[in-house]
Amino acid sequence: MARGEWWRHGVIYHIYPRSFSDSNGDGVGDLAGISARLDYLNDGTPDSLGVDAIWLSPFYPSPMKDFGYDVADYTGVDPLFGTLEDFDTLVTEARARGIRVIVDLVPNHTSDRHPWFIESRASRESPKRDWYIWADSKHGDQPPNNWMSAFPRAGRAWTFDQHTGQWYLHSFLPEQPDLNWWAPEVREAMDEVMRFWLDRGVDGFRIDVAHRMAKDPELRDNPLVDLGDEDDRSGPARAFRMAEAEVELYDEDWPEVHEILRRFRRTLDAYDDRMAVGEVYLLDLRKLARYYGSGRDELHLAHNFVFLHQPWKPEAFRSVVDEYAALLPADAWPAQFLGNHDHSRVASRYDEGGNGPARARVGAMMILTLRGTPFLYYGDELGMIDGEIPPDRVVDMDGRDPERTPMQWDASQGAGFSLAGGDGPPAGARGVPTAEPWLPVAPGAERINVAVERDDPTSMLSLYRRLIWYRKDSAALRWGGYRSLPDVPESLYAFLREAPEERLLVALNFGDEPVKWPAESSGVAATAQLELSTDPGHQPGPVGLSELVIGPDQGMILRLP
Ligand code: NOJ
Repeated sequence: MARGEWWRHGVIYHIYPRSFSDSNGDGVGDLAGISARLDYLNDGTPDSLGVDAIWLSPFYPSPMKDFGYDVADYTGVDPLFGTLEDFDTLVTEARARGIRVIVDLVPNHTSDRHPWFIESRASRESPKRDWYIWADSKHGDQPPNNWMSAFPRAGRAWTFDQHTGQWYLHSFLPEQPDLNWWAPEVREAMDEVMRFWLDRGVDGFRIDVAHRMAKDPELRDNPLVDLGDEDDRSGPARAFRMAEAEVELYDEDWPEVHEILRRFRRTLDAYDDRMAVGEVYLLDLRKLARYYGSGRDELHLAHNFVFLHQPWKPEAFRSVVDEYAALLPADAWPAQFLGNHDHSRVASRYDEGGNGPARARVGAMMILTLRGTPFLYYGDELGMIDGEIPPDRVVDMDGRDPERTPMQWDASQGAGFSLAGGDGPPAGARGVPTAEPWLPVAPGAERINVAVERDDPTSMLSLYRRLIWYRKDSAALRWGGYRSLPDVPESLYAFLREAPEERLLVALNFGDEPVKWPAESSGVAATAQLELSTDPGHQPGPVGLSELVIGPDQGMILRLP
């Protein structure tokens, strides 16, 4: 069943390459490791997960200060991850399975080891001086303005360069200098980078910090807002408070960003069927919606972090979805996601006294049934939880190690993360020594892993497989309309997905008590067919809607007549 652009109805699986599969036993995942695991992702049968595309976090040459989001060469592969040939093989092998490949584009900043920056910082007269954002001290020896890094621990967004006597801007680490998108050469250089990967056959890009590329050219101070008693005044916390206060910031979301995105779109549109999904970390739905432009001329999709930051309350998610739908331009299409490599895992984030796994099942159903393109984060389909990182193993300066632990393939030591030797069972299972994985395996790997869950019809993996394969044959879920139902019991989020040929009712109980709901009184129908439940004991079959009972932390898909 194919209709419309693939990125509107496909399921996209996000791989953090360091952590997915290690083919050579050095303790770090790599491209060949991903190729070796493609059948798990989609072998054309419901035994596999069935995803339509993968998005790879950066695998480019990098000093790894931010684990690849500090790019030293946009058109290469870091030896840690393999070679360009490994990348080509991955694309070919993925395509053979009907899996598209999206790569991360990091246009806001480079590594300080990128030749562009080395040249730029060499002298004030360097032809690449204005490829980055350089400014003089203010008030004697003070930085040019009050902008702060998005990483609280990095402090100010400016670092003084002794050699040339000016400051350079870095929205993240000092080792990640921001490119100057007012320079036409920077725009042209990034066009080339995009074309390099598009010509190599990638299906699109995930655009890192898309909302930060353009800043105030006058470098004005951000307004000072009373943030109350909050300790963490940077990153998302700051953005929330700013959105509440309706404050315009000078270091992000500058209007020119839309011109840059229209340029990206023109580059993509010169090829068939390509797409861009933006990381637009603006916790304000009105601003976020603008990143779709007219609906056809900027981003194809934007990740909605307002949704990801909601508390486990049905009304919270419902109001974000409804409000966002009303704000989006006609042709725009939402992206749905609850997890990525920067956020605590779903099964841990919403856990209260042990209900995290059950809630994660409801979250899975929500993401895969809402209107929009679902993005799944590797390992969430197993119910992986946050890792416990002993102090001497901490590697990320922003506290994101717990959500980046090795993928759990089996119950062997090392969770089957290292394949070392290629064919046959993983190295751990064969007693082959491999390096310690770069991060420790998360707790519960002996139960929470592919090998165990694959044959267990009650597992999280089985639920994900059922949901994804059900979705493939469902016109309503793939491109149907969406309408939330008002006046439902407090713990419920219920919505309709409707296409001419199919009407579905999705009912999600966010509470820890069973809920009785006279769904018939909402005017939907008197009876329905239960198609799929997050409760594996709940078999498909006819149900009456005069009093529908939905168990604690349970979600259902019901087919309406
Ligand atoms: C967003 C990425 O998701 C994150 O991992 C990274 O640290 C920052 N952008 C900087 O590139």
